[in-house]
Amino acid sequence: MKITHSIYTILLAGVAFGFASCGASGDDPGYEYAPQMYNSVAYEPLTQIVNEDEGSWLSSREDGKGEFFNSNVNNPYRMNMREPVANTVPRTKDGSLPYRLKAFELEEAAKIQNPIELNDQVLAEGKALYLQYCVACHGTGGEGDGKAGEVIGGVANLKGGAYINLPEGHIFHVIMKGKGRMGAHGSQIPQDRIWKIVHYVKQEIQKQ
Ligand code: HEC
Repeated sequence: MKITHSIYTILLAGVAFGFASCGASGDDPGYEYAPQMYNSVAYEPLTQIVNEDEGSWLSSREDGKGEFFNSNVNNPYRMNMREPVANTVPRTKDGSLPYRLKAFELEEAAKIQNPIELNDQVLAEGKALYLQYCVACHGTGGEGDGKAGEVIGGVANLKGGAYINLPEGHIFHVIMKGKGRMGAHGSQIPQDRIWKIVHYVKQEIQKQ
């Protein structure tokens, strides 16, 4: 009886110790199971372990450095990534420049010209996109009478007096960043497609 008790006690203590040793806190990652799964042997672009002794207890490297050392000494700042070539300009997926104007910078936006050349195919695409993204609120004819528009209320009538002369850059900006009760669509529609919608709104809805 006594022996069984002692065995249970020792087992329990062992399990408790096992759980306690797994704990990670602060800068201590705790014990890792199969650490090579976490610390890649290949250069990882977004990690950089500059301590040459890191993981030396496990190391099988021929250069004598720690197994986890992961830093490219030939790159600037010993980064694993290369720096972009000087004067590199970032582009979005569709090849245009990132749009940096803030939601309130409507006046600046109004000066931007539509970079997409107008033709029948562009108009057809603009129409399809308008039907996809705008009709629910603005209605087929752009008069603000879409089904969702009826619920939301206050949807702009794109044919109405104040809106008919809106510059193309302004319309682009409103779609991109939203305005008042209209939400931003910039994260859903790529820039080149927004410009096609703008062509459609100007040419077919506003007949400008
Ligand atoms: C969820 C409903 C909704 C959707 C979807 C929507 N709009 Fe709007 N839109 C509105 C509302 C509401 C306003 C009025 C905003 C305000 O002034 O408060 C508005 C205003 C506008 C204006 C006038 C901006 C100004 O300067 O006052 C334009 C232009 C416009 N929308 C174009 C579009 C186009 C093009 C699409 C499709 C990409 C679209 N909207 C999608 C609800 C919507």
